[in-house]
Amino acid sequence: MPTTTRTAPGTSALLPSETVVARIRRHIEAGTTDVADGTWNEPVDNYRNDARFTNELAMLRSTAVPFCPSAAIARPGDYIARDSAGVPIVAARGNDGVVRAFRNACRHRGAAVVCGEGHAASFVCPYHGWVYQLDGRLRRVPHDQGFPDLDIASTGLAELPAFERHGLVFVRQEPSAPSASVDDLDDLAGVITVDYHYDGFGEAEQPVNWKLLVETFLEGYHIRFLHHDTFFPVQYDNVNVVESFGPNSRITFPYQNIARPFDTSDEMAVRGRMTYVHHLFPNVMLATFPGQILMIVLDPVTVDRTLVTTFAWRVGEAETRPGNPNLLNDGAAQDFAIARTIQHGLASGANDHLRFGLYEGAIAHFHRTLDAALAAIGEKLS
Ligand code: FES
Ligand SMILES: [Fe+2]
Repeated sequence: MPTTTRTAPGTSALLPSETVVARIRRHIEAGTTDVADGTWNEPVDNYRNDARFTNELAMLRSTAVPFCPSAAIARPGDYIARDSAGVPIVAARGNDGVVRAFRNACRHRGAAVVCGEGHAASFVCPYHGWVYQLDGRLRRVPHDQGFPDLDIASTGLAELPAFERHGLVFVRQEPSAPSASVDDLDDLAGVITVDYHYDGFGEAEQPVNWKLLVETFLEGYHIRFLHHDTFFPVQYDNVNVVESFGPNSRITFPYQNIARPFDTSDEMAVRGRMTYVHHLFPNVMLATFPGQILMIVLDPVTVDRTLVTTFAWRVGEAETRPGNPNLLNDGAAQDFAIARTIQHGLASGANDHLRFGLYEGAIAHFHRTLDAALAAIGEKLS
């Protein structure tokens, strides 16, 4: 059985890339990989229980989570509207350059004031034409004599705490919630560099509990079997470096060209030879690939449905991707397809719990952290 370096979740900052490369190479030579301190059993009921799901939504809404790339709303007037934890939100860059987030519901009768992405000088509600400034203030009400008691100054869009850090916009829906530590986010410095340009986003719904989708990203033990015709021909099976930073994790997946000599101090050269998957607790992946970066948001819709939103950055025309140009799409399709069978099988009664072994330690870290976060929410609510 492979044995090697043990990782201690929740303690250390991330290793520099040169050190990760060296550790990967030692693993390849020795036939080893990172292993966790212990295994984890997650009750099947935790993926199906509506009360638990409601608490998970409350936890998500009280956590500052990545909403979109800063580059997606780079200019004043740029906006993105989408649902987060079931709540419609719009983030926009104001004329002062500041990113703000609002509940995307008109203060008249609640219509969505804007949809999708775009650029606007102001938000005009499509129902009766109330006009909001980019800073959320209500500017105009058609036929305002119909609202004799309306205080325009205090009836702007409902604003939510938002901030930018290392190229990402974070939004927290419950302003009164205890502020999560953002110090851990400093480990993301340098991930999104000027070499990458933002390239848009897409959405797709999966009939799967959000945590089953999170789990697909957090281990490399399935590369040979599930990805035999996609990732396995260019990567390694079960050779990973697994680290944590606060509630988050980073899993390194090497490509076979990492074994050949190259300048390991050149970060872009490193990124052509291994993929970093950052799991930003609770539900966002920030992953580097040769020639591109993806931010994948796994937003719970119901206990058995998840909205997957994928934002992309590219280097040039991404001509540096190895092999199959559809590698990432094809590989992700395999992950989502297997997750659908797991979701279907939850009701089979075959398992009381799902088992996570020593190669799946980042998943254990996720569930351990989630349990603690739900306990904190429960204390706050009680
Ligand atoms: S609901 Fe927005 S203007 Fe009426
Ligand atoms: Fe996978």
